[in-house]
Amino acid sequence: MVHKMVSDMLNFLLSRRSVRKFKPNPIPDELLIQILDVARYAPSARNSQPWIFVVVKDSEVKKKLANVHVWAKPLENAPVGIVVACNNEVSPESYQVDCANATMQLMLAAHAVGLGSVWLQTLRNISDVQEIVGLPKNYIPIAMLALGFPDEVPIAKKRKDLKDIVYLNRFGSEFIH
Ligand SMILES: Cc1cc2nc3c(=O)[nH]c(=O)nc-3n(C[C@H](O)[C@H](O)[C@H](O)COP(=O)(O)O)c2cc1C
Repeated sequence: MVHKMVSDMLNFLLSRRSVRKFKPNPIPDELLIQILDVARYAPSARNSQPWIFVVVKDSEVKKKLANVHVWAKPLENAPVGIVVACNNEVSPESYQVDCANATMQLMLAAHAVGLGSVWLQTLRNISDVQEIVGLPKNYIPIAMLALGFPDEVPIAKKRKDLKDIVYLNRFGSEFIH
């Protein structure tokens, strides 16, 4: 039984996929609040929690964000976008990794409640995104998520072999035979 729980949890992590096609159904606010509530428990340096989340439902704002870059397009047809930004004064050395942690935790929480998401943009078009959602200059947008009920089941993308990325004690020395 314990083994089953462990394998269920690992399979949950393995089954997250980037979803870029969404059903038009809106996401209830309670569900959004539930996953944002989980995201704030992500680890951060000195527990500084430099993040803020801008939930974007307005279709004009969403469209503007979707147009900052060709790779941001999936946002256009998602019912919700979320901009994750971190304060670079609160956490000058680690705001980027802190924000990435919060984004990943948000994506996994979304997956747990049956929502699909894709991470869009990182450290690109910063001032455009800041302007579109009115972020102060010290809040750097690290990620935008397109979020919604999935309308596709993407196949898992190939990963590098474990033996090619894991070393013992020293870079290059074999751990997995
Ligand atoms: C930092 C980061 C930036 C990404 N940027 C984009 C993006 O701009 N547009 C997009 O469609 N997907 C983007 N992705 C999603 C990746 O393409 C995706 O995670 C990767 O192909 C692996 O697929 P999977 O998430 O389904 O496992 C990004 C992912 C990360 C972590």
